[in-house]
Amino acid sequence: MTSSVAAPGEPDIVVLADAGAASAAAARRIAAALAEAVTARGVAHWATTGGSTPGAIYRDLAGEPLRDTVPWERVHLWWGDDRWAPPDGPLSNTLAARELLLREVPIPAAQVHVMPIGEAMAAGHSPAWAAARYAEALRTTALPPDPAGFPILDVVLVGIGSDGHLFSVFPGSATWDDPAWAQAVPAPTHVEPQVARVTLHPWILHAARLPIAVAHGAGKAGIVGRIFGERGDPRDLPALLARRPGAVWILDEAAAVILPPHLGRSSMA
Ligand code: 6PG
Repeated sequence: MTSSVAAPGEPDIVVLADAGAASAAAARRIAAALAEAVTARGVAHWATTGGSTPGAIYRDLAGEPLRDTVPWERVHLWWGDDRWAPPDGPLSNTLAARELLLREVPIPAAQVHVMPIGEAMAAGHSPAWAAARYAEALRTTALPPDPAGFPILDVVLVGIGSDGHLFSVFPGSATWDDPAWAQAVPAPTHVEPQVARVTLHPWILHAARLPIAVAHGAGKAGIVGRIFGERGDPRDLPALLARRPGAVWILDEAAAVILPPHLGRSSMA
């Protein structure tokens, strides 16, 4: 396993031939970071993502040889965001994890921290209620704080929306103005699915020990080019939060075609 050399002030950017190779590389990085966290602190906290990105990563993590490299019984799994939809339905960000990862690896049920959206929907509560419960779950876990007081997770995996969103923090999001660690987000009208969301505060991505952003396919080339072509305000382009030293971006060739050539590239990960 080899890392690319990051350009000064930039994340480690790894470009691989195709989506399968990018997912495999992301799985290897996650497995290594979880194992390192357990060695260092006895526990590992990982916030995963929704969308189409994590499925292949889960499959790689659940298969040999990675599966046995992670002390899963010490791992806590969180979500960066979830949709206001039944947890066993296709819109839920938890479904892929439950089907592809959690059936295969022994993370104790009490350490699988789903956003309480099913519970909220069943009881007639609002997304704000679910967000407040989730923020409370994070607080009672007593994670170490970053200098701004936000909890430090060991690994935060994100996909990147074609508008530059991460978690459910969209361009122009109001989440920045509220310090709550988890927040309700009104249904977006410019991306699918157009349902309300619950999201972590964007700063939690920045505060993480290892933010990992994964993007593949030609449909992501434009936004990847924008993220690495300008130094704008993350309020306008939230994915810029993951453009920081110490973060890892794993792309395939199709998503990286507009990546400025001076930024780190590697064919290995
Ligand atoms: C969601 C996500 C969202 C997603 C990106 C990328 O609930 O929609 O968590 O932030 O990660 O939109 O989606 P893809 O992985 O499908 O490209």
